[in-house]
Amino acid sequence: MKSAKLAIVVLVATSSANATASAQTATADPGQKEYEARCSICHGLDAKGSGVFSQALKVAPPDLTLLARNNGGVFPAERISGVIDGRIGIVSHGPRDMPIWGARYAGDAAKRFPDIPYAQETYIRARVLQLVEYLSRIQQK
Ligand code: HEC
Repeated sequence: MKSAKLAIVVLVATSSANATASAQTATADPGQKEYEARCSICHGLDAKGSGVFSQALKVAPPDLTLLARNNGGVFPAERISGVIDGRIGIVSHGPRDMPIWGARYAGDAAKRFPDIPYAQETYIRARVLQLVEYLSRIQQK
């Protein structure tokens, strides 16, 4: 089960076959690119929670390099993918200050494929998994 999930993640990440995280440089790593474009403003380029926007938020963005460590050494891939696509809302101290990326990617898909039928669910899933896979690679031991 677990290895099947991992296989999917690896498949989605095939375009980043040589992804030996070249920190904060121009990269062909789709997960890293997406992270830097959409997430780093709050979570920080190093994913430790000190993005330029973090001080304007009511709830501090968590350190995303400690997700595995805080979960007994296991990267919580399923939960994280739910957090990103919006299936799992985090209620901590007030409303959630994080855009719901699943809905956003659904809009992207509609723009990208205006005239042809497409599998919206699959498109969203692939975009989210690229991010999950990137986050899984930047976990601290
Ligand atoms: C507008 C600022 C903002 C942006 C942009 C943002 N986040 Fe967040 N994120 C937060 C905050 C704040 C929390 C903590 C929410 C809470 O605890 O209620 C959070 C929580 C999370 C968590 C939960 C961690 C855990 O332990 O459960 C993950 C994973 C995460 N963000 C990933 C991402 C990813 C990936 C992106 C880009 C697609 C992103 N975030 C974009 C502000 C942001």
